[in-house]
Amino acid sequence: MKISHISDIHYGPAGFNANMLSRCIDEVNALNPDITVITGDLSMNGLKKEIESVFEILKEIDTEKFIVPGNHDARNVGYLTFERLFGSRYSERVIDEIQILCCDSSEPDLDTGQLGREGQMWLKEKLEKTGAKYRIIAMHHHLIPVPLTGRERSELYDSGDVLKLIYDEGANLVLNGHKHVPNNWVMESSSGITIFCTAGSVSSEKLKADYLNCYNIIDLSCERIKIELKNIGKEGRVVVNRKF
Ligand SMILES: [Fe+2]
Ligand SMILES: [Fe+2]
Repeated sequence: MKISHISDIHYGPAGFNANMLSRCIDEVNALNPDITVITGDLSMNGLKKEIESVFEILKEIDTEKFIVPGNHDARNVGYLTFERLFGSRYSERVIDEIQILCCDSSEPDLDTGQLGREGQMWLKEKLEKTGAKYRIIAMHHHLIPVPLTGRERSELYDSGDVLKLIYDEGANLVLNGHKHVPNNWVMESSSGITIFCTAGSVSSEKLKADYLNCYNIIDLSCERIKIELKNIGKEGRVVVNRKF
């Protein structure tokens, strides 16, 4: 399965680069992945018009999409508009022995996030009950700090408990966004390894140091995972190539 992993669009009146998003969508459609996962911060302020506009733009992506909200989408009760357009903030889908779990880690009007006890129970139950060979989890906030992002202040509040849950139940891949800096951590777990893949921002002008607008292309096949970091308009670079 080939997955395009996009994050932190930040559609809004300022700081949003429409050209980057449009070029990314063209590149993704040309790559023809099986699915696209978008790990939150679709909008700048969670406003109705912003989420409605980005919803229309994302229709241009040809693949099936899996989308979670981010902290910016949870501002101004944006989670209601999100649910109206994109559906539940918690979802499960199994495609070709691959389980995809989408969880909302955002909290209304806060930049920090958590899964909370209910979210953890939902995730544990889904991971426990599945017979799928591979398990992918998508949530906006990171579970392990991301290097070169300054002082850590917004990883998941209950990251310790969620990490333990993932370690015990053995997910293969956890997809995040939030920090606008791409990064991958690999952890041993009951499934062999779990990769924590954070995407950079696809179209926000809020970028740090030398990072560019980017996304990930993930290839999951033959018990291997390959992750390619793709700066928009540039050649891709393989950043993970591991056997499970
Ligand atoms: Fe963001
Ligand atoms: Fe965020």
